[in-house]
Amino acid sequence: MTMVVIPVISSKGGVGKTTIAANLCTALAQRGRQVLAIDLDPQNALRFHIANEPQDCDSGLVEAATGLIPWAHTIRPASAGAMLLPFGDVDDERQISFEQQLARHPGWLAETLQRFGLPEGTLVLLDTPPGASVYLQQALRAAHFGVVTVLADAGSFATLPIVERMIGKYASPRADYLGTGYVVNQVDPGKRLNNDVFEMLRQRLRPELLGVLHLDQAVPEALASASPVQRYAPMSQAAEDFSSCTERVLERIETARQAAAFPSLRTMEPNR
Ligand SMILES: Nc1ncnc2c1ncn2[C@@H]1O[C@H](COP(=O)(O)OP(=O)(O)OP(=O)(O)O)[C@@H](O)[C@H]1O
Ligand SMILES: [Mg+2]
Repeated sequence: MTMVVIPVISSKGGVGKTTIAANLCTALAQRGRQVLAIDLDPQNALRFHIANEPQDCDSGLVEAATGLIPWAHTIRPASAGAMLLPFGDVDDERQISFEQQLARHPGWLAETLQRFGLPEGTLVLLDTPPGASVYLQQALRAAHFGVVTVLADAGSFATLPIVERMIGKYASPRADYLGTGYVVNQVDPGKRLNNDVFEMLRQRLRPELLGVLHLDQAVPEALASASPVQRYAPMSQAAEDFSSCTERVLERIETARQAAAFPSLRTMEPNR
């Protein structure tokens, strides 16, 4: 396995996938890792968090996939030395025909990433749209480690099975799938209901919980100033949370890779 593909996914929308993908990308690149972030969401919003020139991300994945531009022209410089492949700004008809192309060729993303010939050890982060879609199918078929984002609310708790079913269908049966980690976002210790739901999630997700991201105004403020939280507010609670989630992701991947190299230890792995 030369690269590790890490999709950030959720059943529900607006729970912080793009924010988490962007800040994981920055935190991993700051640790000296080679990182390619790919925006697999037609919103094309990852650029606003990490691209060095967000206004220069109108072309990307869709145009390259349909042969209109070479892949090399789609990669943009992003924060902390990471690279970004934007989705591109496409109209409804091109988006629908791209989605039909993805539906006809379920392994397209995994095969395309193999052909990129990325440097050994590259971490490929994928931002995805919410819920079941051709994008999520493609992301999970290419995935080595999935990051699921949930809010500490009843809606997130109730819809968790949607992504879990898809992980069970497209990712976990593969021998090269290393596991799943969960991030609970917008945790607010001052709110009783939020605390109660968080406790239920903690019980349900242990030992796959990577960590929490507290509700923190630094997160939307960083987005408004088009920077990752680590750069906008390095001393904030959110920056500290991203840092510890990043460490846990790296630990989980490393542990699972070692277990895969020594199959007899496999039974000691947490649930996949
Ligand atoms: N921990 C947090 N504290 C405060 N605001 C947050 C936090 N996490 C995310 N947000 C805000 O919530 C909003 C939604 O976040 P984001 O766009 O990352 O979600 P998403 O899951 O990618 O949404 P979509 O499903 O539409 O792609 C943004 O305005 C973001 O700034
Ligand atoms: Mg998003």
